[in-house]
Amino acid sequence: MDTQGIMALALELAHQAEIPADSGIDVPAPSVRRALFGIDADSGDLLIAKQLGYDVLINHHPTGGTSQVRFPEVLRRHRVLLELAGVPPDAAERAVQSLLEEHESAAHARNYDKLPSEARLLAMPLMAIHNPCDEIGRRVMDETLRAHLPSNPTVRDSIAVLNRIPEFNKALTKIVVRMGKDANPLGKWVVIHGAGTNGGYPVAKAAFDHGIDTVFYIHVDAGHLRRLREEYGRDGRRSLVVTGHIASDSIGINVLVREMRTRGVSVDCFGGVLDV
Ligand SMILES: [Fe+2]
Ligand SMILES: [Fe+2]
Repeated sequence: MDTQGIMALALELAHQAEIPADSGIDVPAPSVRRALFGIDADSGDLLIAKQLGYDVLINHHPTGGTSQVRFPEVLRRHRVLLELAGVPPDAAERAVQSLLEEHESAAHARNYDKLPSEARLLAMPLMAIHNPCDEIGRRVMDETLRAHLPSNPTVRDSIAVLNRIPEFNKALTKIVVRMGKDANPLGKWVVIHGAGTNGGYPVAKAAFDHGIDTVFYIHVDAGHLRRLREEYGRDGRRSLVVTGHIASDSIGINVLVREMRTRGVSVDCFGGVLDV
């Protein structure tokens, strides 16, 4: 496989027609036999990959170039997830605009060529596969819940179902109820993942204000959580379940890693990926 083939495989598994804005190939590799797969690559990781003779360093989070500069575009995916969950388009769009306001200036300010320039200097192939892996992970979580939830489930039941996924079982972090209580009825629920980053206050609010009782995030910022708790009550009827960043990211990464291995690529996971 070459780096293009690896990206094409990720898109196929994610049912995506084109490379999302937060993903891309910084330095291509014509032939990949051994790949190193991590989450938060820095210069040290590039050197490790180079020194150990890997053909490519595949990183989950955006590495630079357009995957960092165009990153905010994937935040629009929150609108799709909210609408699928029954949130009216105008409310979903307002939530996205609020997220864009928060993230666009940071993306614009980023030193986007640092890692790619180092990869070029080292002649070390480098690529970022972010949204395809997260979309795969979102689907695994969503489908696992749909398949195994008992009737009239509580929030506690949903956590027990998610813990069947090996990555959650293996992770040091546990799935936590950050708002609401585990005895709450699960009610109408939505898994918000695979949309750049967590939807913070605006996306959870759009969901809670339009009939959704439980929101699943993989992570949430403390300031956004505080605002949600102030509005809906720390132990109220609306529940925010946070599944854990690295465990959740690993779910989608591992689906891709397994498929690469069946195609003859030797893949080593490092840098936090939970290899299950
Ligand atoms: Fe992710
Ligand atoms: Fe992540």
